Amino acid sequence: MKALILAGGFGTRLRPLTYTRPKHLLPIANRPHIEHVFDLLMGHGVTDVVLLTSYLAETFDAIVERGVKRGMTIAVTHEAEPLGTAGALKNAEALVSDGTFLAFNGDILTDVDLGALADRHAATGAEATILLTPVDDPSAYGVVPTDEDGRVLGFIEKPPLGEAPTNLINAGVYVLEPSILERIPKGEVWSAERRLFPGLVEEGAGLYATGTDAYWMDIGTPRKYLQANLDALSGAYRTDAAAALVPKEVLAAKDAFVADDAMVSSACIGPGARVEAGAVLERAVLLAGARTARGAEVRDSILGEGATVEAGARVADQAIADHEVVRPSS
Ligand code: GDD
Ligand code: MG
Repeated sequence: MKALILAGGFGTRLRPLTYTRPKHLLPIANRPHIEHVFDLLMGHGVTDVVLLTSYLAETFDAIVERGVKRGMTIAVTHEAEPLGTAGALKNAEALVSDGTFLAFNGDILTDVDLGALADRHAATGAEATILLTPVDDPSAYGVVPTDEDGRVLGFIEKPPLGEAPTNLINAGVYVLEPSILERIPKGEVWSAERRLFPGLVEEGAGLYATGTDAYWMDIGTPRKYLQANLDALSGAYRTDAAAALVPKEVLAAKDAFVADDAMVSSACIGPGARVEAGAVLERAVLLAGARTARGAEVRDSILGEGATVEAGARVADQAIADHEVVRPSS
């Protein structure tokens, strides 16, 4: 089965980190997020991928090369202007052959059983099957009520707070029949969540959904991106990249420096990053070359590439831009 991965959004909620890279390249446990998606696919024998890019498309080149080296076939489409989640799929139509295919929001971290999802799709004979996951606050997602058999009764993208009919939301993983592409206009901006799926419901087409209790996270905001890293450290999300942590819950790249008397807990420390003597690092992600100087304190935060938190400065609940210097407030 082929997998189409949506990776062309601007990642606005993750600015400033996404001024210089798409969110899909931000590290989870020191590996670009999209490679975790590749791991999931490869783990299910899905080696054939189409990456649907737009914003900063060229930054995916190195990852594509690495994927090919590990035995994947990766085609890349490029939208000069983002075509929306359905428009992007339509744009890849020539690369979708006859068979059932997978489509993925590229900013999802999950270890869901794709085989079970595909089986469910086959069993109902659906034209499209949406994976659902439970969340506490559905208002930030696509809310998907179904009947007892899993037939989708509605698709409500980002309903007002408190108005969602269920807490089961669109997990951004779909199994689709190629015929679905005929329902999307060519070359137009078209949203899967606001046009395609609601249209299918209205028509009474074969749109089904099925739930999962597997690990699932959308990494699209600083808080959730950080949480995804913490989940990799704690083992809530299982990944080889963080499998053998000593001491537990601190993952430092080989050439990172962590001073012996730095107080570090629950942190992913990227290549060339430095945590100097007496620094405090709690629930943090340091991208490559980021630096926490002597006695600096960083909590619940992400430091961009080459960013510095100077001696005596404190950072809490923040995403610091690449190369920014944070000085102590006087
Ligand atoms: N190629 C391409 N073109 N990709 C796009 C485009 C586009 O025009 N627009 C968005 N994407 C990609 C994003 O880069 C991301 O990987 C994915 O599609 C989803 O877009 P988001 O912007 O992250 O959407 P969201 O998180 O607000 O909502 C979506 O995901 C939720 C689950 O996390 C929706 O699908 C919701 O219904 C869903 O619940
Ligand atoms: Mg998202």
